[in-house]
Amino acid sequence: MGRMNIVVTGATGNIGRRVTTELASKGVSVVALARDSAKGAPLEAAGARVAVGSFEDAASLERAFSGADTLVLITAANAHADAQTSRALAAAKSAGVRKIVRVSALKADADGPTDNTRQHARTEAALKASGLTHVILRPHLFFQNLFASLPTILSEGKIYWGVGEARMGIVDTRDVADAVVVAATTDRFDGGTFELTGPASVDYHAVAAAIGRALGRDVAYQAVPPEAAAEALRRFGVDDWTVNVVRDYCTAYARGWGDFTTEDVARITGHAPRSADDFAREVLAPAARG
Ligand SMILES: NC(=O)c1ccc[n+]([C@@H]2O[C@H](COP(=O)([O-])OP(=O)(O)OC[C@H]3O[C@@H](n4cnc5c(N)ncnc54)[C@H](OP(=O)(O)O)[C@@H]3O)[C@@H](O)[C@H]2O)c1
Repeated sequence: MGRMNIVVTGATGNIGRRVTTELASKGVSVVALARDSAKGAPLEAAGARVAVGSFEDAASLERAFSGADTLVLITAANAHADAQTSRALAAAKSAGVRKIVRVSALKADADGPTDNTRQHARTEAALKASGLTHVILRPHLFFQNLFASLPTILSEGKIYWGVGEARMGIVDTRDVADAVVVAATTDRFDGGTFELTGPASVDYHAVAAAIGRALGRDVAYQAVPPEAAAEALRRFGVDDWTVNVVRDYCTAYARGWGDFTTEDVARITGHAPRSADDFAREVLAPAARG
């Protein structure tokens, strides 16, 4: 692979950390946008250059993006994502970025069931209208969200969540990151939109059982109403927008909105997507053991 210049936003998050370190390990010249230089230090240690900046500061984005051929655009899910992505797209254009790999969300749709779904659809439309080369990756629900249930898994052997008996094509963020790396470093997927799922559509009973196997103890899923699952997050200081989005996602999932899988992870990465057992054994259980 020739020396490529790639800039990654959301680089200190779930997907972005792995994208940044994988790119650096492949010899790509990679710049990681971080809000805080201390949080960027592990990425620097992995071989990236850290640019301190934020989506609120357009000039910091232009500085971080200048000299990059490709931007991996990962934003946080929040009420301001529209404004943040608009600023990032404008900065990418003025910095002369050629291509954007966008991490979107499953079934992004202007009429979709959650504000996150609708915001991602607007960003996808703006990206397509920008004239820049692009790849849109829409991940399904993340296995890594289960970290929020770790306290009750460890204290009671229970996962409380609001998706009823629904099945979903839940995906591991490691597979999302792997797909981003391939999409950013080859032109094979340019212009495409891909829905990234796990290998199977599974209900939370199956996920709980996988976690139980990995931890060597009984773990059960206890369904609660979508409103209750969302409201419980307030205890952790979660804001109104997030509470509403979680409620709306849970309601949609409970109706079967997420009951699908695709071949896109394997098609892009060349490897099978990781399963609930893989996630439980390789990610959650080691973290639980500290
Ligand atoms: N969770 C799911 O199940 C799911 C499913 C499908 C799609 N998605 C999408 O995935 C994306 C999130 O990916 P993720 O889980 O990898 O991210 P994450 O772990 O939530 O991390 C968010 C990243 O964005 C950075 N960030 C937040 N606010 C910022 C700001 N104002 N300026 C600059 N950087 C900022 C954070 O930096 P700090 O470290 O400084 O906070 C962090 O690097 C969202 O777009 C979401 O809609 C999520």
